[in-house]
Amino acid sequence: MKPLSIALTMIVTLAAHAEDAQQIERGRYLVDLLSCAACHTDGQLLSEPRADRYLAGSSIGIAYSNHDKPGVVFPANLTPDPDTGLGRWSAAEITKNIQYGIDRHGRQQLPIMPWPGYAHMQQEDAEAITAYLMSLPPVKHAVPTNVAPNTPSSAPYVRYGVYVFFPKTAIEGETITTP
Ligand code: HEC
Repeated sequence: MKPLSIALTMIVTLAAHAEDAQQIERGRYLVDLLSCAACHTDGQLLSEPRADRYLAGSSIGIAYSNHDKPGVVFPANLTPDPDTGLGRWSAAEITKNIQYGIDRHGRQQLPIMPWPGYAHMQQEDAEAITAYLMSLPPVKHAVPTNVAPNTPSSAPYVRYGVYVFFPKTAIEGETITTP
């Protein structure tokens, strides 16, 4: 290779690296802004985040039904660990999941994962989030399997955000507008 083409190749490679670094930095910013860690970092649902499991999945679940024994879902491990995280997902599969809540097996995920809001995101923002997730150190941490309604959960869980409770007096005395 001639010196000039070597120099050009180096410049192009350096520029590509700078672009990657910028995209990852944008992804980190968006992940902070959108509070992905609020659910996906172990312990965070109890306000006791584990730094060694940052975005590596929650052992504490989130209840999604009103049953005595509610259905429970566990925010996934988002680090690139191949066995317990997103290591075997392609970038396109991760981006699609963030935007549409459809996982790599075609399963529609629960809207507790706030994909209905994320669907309004620009494509390049979703791709930047994916680039950032793929740049994280892989952490091996398997979250518990989701629990179906009316089945006892052996893992702890929080109940939040998914219930509409109409007090009896309000139902009898007033007109209630439901969303
Ligand atoms: C309010 C809690 C919450 C927040 C905030 C949240 N998620 Fe999730 N996420 C979940 C839950 C719960 C699931 C599992 C849903 C299911 O299995 O139906 C999930 C699943 C996922 C999955 C699928 C992984 C898999 O293995 O199935 C990805 C990818 C993901 N979330 C990325 C993100 C990103 C990126 C953000 C921030 C931009 C984010 N999530 C914010 C709760 C949350």
